[in-house]
Amino acid sequence: MRAILVGFGFIGRNLVKSIRDKLAVIKSFHPQFKLVGISDVEGFLFDEEGLDLERASSISKITEYFEKIHEGSSIELIERSEADVLIEATPTNVVDGQPGLSHIEKALNLGMHVVTSNKGPLVIAFKRLMDLAKRKGVELKYEATVAGAIPIFSLVRDCLRGNHVRKIYGILNGTTNYILSRMHFDDVSFEVALREAQERGIAERDPTYDVEGIDAACKVVILANAILGKDAKINDVKREGIKRVSREAVRLARKAGYAIKLVAVVGDRLEVGPRLVALNHPICVHGTLNAVHLETDLAGEITVVGPGAGEETVSAIINDLLSLPMSGGYR
Ligand SMILES: NC(=O)c1ccc[n+]([C@@H]2O[C@H](COP(=O)([O-])OP(=O)(O)OC[C@H]3O[C@@H](n4cnc5c(N)ncnc54)[C@H](OP(=O)(O)O)[C@@H]3O)[C@@H](O)[C@H]2O)c1
Repeated sequence: MRAILVGFGFIGRNLVKSIRDKLAVIKSFHPQFKLVGISDVEGFLFDEEGLDLERASSISKITEYFEKIHEGSSIELIERSEADVLIEATPTNVVDGQPGLSHIEKALNLGMHVVTSNKGPLVIAFKRLMDLAKRKGVELKYEATVAGAIPIFSLVRDCLRGNHVRKIYGILNGTTNYILSRMHFDDVSFEVALREAQERGIAERDPTYDVEGIDAACKVVILANAILGKDAKINDVKREGIKRVSREAVRLARKAGYAIKLVAVVGDRLEVGPRLVALNHPICVHGTLNAVHLETDLAGEITVVGPGAGEETVSAIINDLLSLPMSGGYR
């Protein structure tokens, strides 16, 4: 299996390190596995014999790998590589899904499997992309797009076969959960908690996506389409962020045995907003943790908790890679 990685930021760099560390395991699933290309905005690396994983793990920009990189675009890498799988890890864009949408469409059209951590293309065109993958006889996998390392899609697909999932709700954004947890436990204001989250690298310099609930709404769309079989778009999600959550409200909630959490709901209604969650409810997790609660007909209620972002997200990408069929793909 020949893999290419498009996007060499936080996730891309951590993924390359994990591929290096887990190469023996990966080869036990895909004996011929090679990472043959990596691209970023400046160009791409390509070696059909496989890149040197030790060297690729030690660099922070692809220009540090070779003296000279290929100056073409990610699309050129996808076309030229004849890879079996594209790993897409460019920034999420919920306006038009680009550049990831074009990368994924190009790869699927060429008969490559795709593993993505990028939510944007799925938020914009979930059904179209899944249909395209099906038509081309390849897989499009996206475990890392929702709740980081928590294996929510694999859990439903592989371990809850025969179940009807009625409703999903939970905490799907680690940044806002961190802010609300600081407000809950340390009685600080939203502004102070946000500033601290930014200083610690938990919140972006522009925190709009997280604090306005847009990131969580994207995950609602993907869950609704992938698990409940809907054809939802981001505007179908009723959304409210956490900016207006006051210290006073958090204090009152705590006294009454609750925490205020940014809760995402995927059911008859799709919504994201601050809700009171009983302190003893299984989704009442704190810090940057995420929690996903499923209501099913056979298995009853199930909650999974874990890291919703960060380097642990690579676990979901690796599992997607290892669950691809050995044959198929480009060659
Ligand atoms: N970080 C997490 O914990 C996490 C968890 C789950 C999912 N995700 C998702 O995974 C994706 C990657 O996240 P990240 O944290 O690694 O983001 P990141 O650090 O911003 O990395 C994205 C990289 O892609 C590069 N890029 C932009 N356009 C490109 C193009 N056309 N071709 C190739 N590379 C391009 C960016 O370069 P420039 O910076 O120069 O533009 C950047 O280096 C995002 O969609 C994110 O939402 C992240």
